Amino acid sequence: MYNPSTGIWTTTGSMSVARDSHTVSTLANGLILVAGGQNSGGALTSAELYNPSTGIWTTTGNMNIARIGHTVSTLANGLVLVAGGYNGAYLNSAELYNPSTGIWTTTANMNIARYYHTTSTLADGSVLVAGGANTAYLNSAELYSPSTGIWTTTANMNIARYYHTTSTLVNGSILITGGLNGVGALNSAELY
Ligand SMILES: *[C@@H]1O[C@H](CO)[C@@H](O)[C@H](O)[C@H]1NC(C)=O
Repeated sequence: MYNPSTGIWTTTGSMSVARDSHTVSTLANGLILVAGGQNSGGALTSAELYNPSTGIWTTTGNMNIARIGHTVSTLANGLVLVAGGYNGAYLNSAELYNPSTGIWTTTANMNIARYYHTTSTLADGSVLVAGGANTAYLNSAELYSPSTGIWTTTANMNIARYYHTTSTLVNGSILITGGLNGVGALNSAELY
């Protein structure tokens, strides 16, 4: 735990499960949700919650599918959308976590399996997924509608990229920078 007023790091509770390549989300109730990732045992379905007031982690429901390199988005309705990833196979599946029940339910599949893509929540509440990789590097992008639970294809990026970053600008445009696509690190950037 880093304290910005003192500049000091202190140890807090350990997670129940060692993991890398997982995701983290802040829930509306203030708890921190960690999901998936991998350790020496392979890709993980497990998820746990950190309580900032006690410093204690508690396990919550497992995802239906083990994932690394997936993305996570907290929706306006409080549900958490997890999409894609890899567990030996590239994944197009997506799931929703309900913080009130601790249960994951499957939602519609993305059109394209991908990992190490990015997600951005747009002003209208929909979630933009961009790039990533499967057996190919991807320039494709798709939008998830939280109200219908449906993914629709949107325009491709100009350049295929994975391990890129995304930032939401104050005017609502999405800035995508860098990444990899088989020819080394990219310096290109594009706006959606
Ligand atoms: C946001 O600003 C950028 C930089 O000026 C511009 O290229 C982009 O079109 C703007 N987006 C919107 C939605 O106005």
